[in-house]
Amino acid sequence: MIDLHCHLLPGVDDGSKSMDISLKLANDAVRDGIDYALLTPHHMNGVYLNHKKAVIQQTQEFQVELDRHKISLKVFPGQEVRINGDLLTALDQDDILFADKGGRYLMLEFPDNDIPSYTNNMIYELMQRGIIPVIVHPERNTMIMKKPDILYDLLSRGCLSQITASSYVGIFGHKVQKFSKQLIQAGQAYIFASDVHNLPNRKYEMTNAFVKMNHEFGNDYVSRFNENAKRIINGDNILPNNFSEIKTHLFRLF
Ligand SMILES: [Fe+2]
Repeated sequence: MIDLHCHLLPGVDDGSKSMDISLKLANDAVRDGIDYALLTPHHMNGVYLNHKKAVIQQTQEFQVELDRHKISLKVFPGQEVRINGDLLTALDQDDILFADKGGRYLMLEFPDNDIPSYTNNMIYELMQRGIIPVIVHPERNTMIMKKPDILYDLLSRGCLSQITASSYVGIFGHKVQKFSKQLIQAGQAYIFASDVHNLPNRKYEMTNAFVKMNHEFGNDYVSRFNENAKRIINGDNILPNNFSEIKTHLFRLF
């Protein structure tokens, strides 16, 4: 499997605090069936800045350690970029890492409880540059949970979405789990990723998520999600979804 979102690099953000922990997490990844991992430290989220050059260097150093410890995980440099007003400048300054080498797919994060007012303009600007934002964990954004149309509109504009495996298996509670399932059912999800941190309850759940998906939606969905992850990291076109709106029942009495 390919994991396109994790916080495995030692000492750079709220993920792993040390090389020992990173190596342990890498072992967990391999045990969960992951062969390739895009390392995505937070960038420009108001707390962490992890500049492109530094992440590339740290990823190379981590790969050396993985090889030295005979851990069969191949890692690639990436960033989980928070949407922010300086993003276009950062792109101009070549300080942004993408999921693929060609600079097509951007792992883009929103604040947990907000969709900034400039979002539509920013998405337009990114698209104009040929960039396809992959919205990370929309299932945990409280505003999207309240108004799923927000995500539907973003997908209609050409964005993609990544559901966190642990959301779908219920680690973040029933509401997030239910919404994850609704998004998958509506064709509004394209890939799973771990978003692993070194925190209790933030472990690898990729295999569990795919087993559950196979049970609830069938093997076609599993194949599509795996294929899309591969296509994203290779910079290829993804398999398009026929997605539909999620019906909310705000006014339903029974
Ligand atoms: Fe993350």
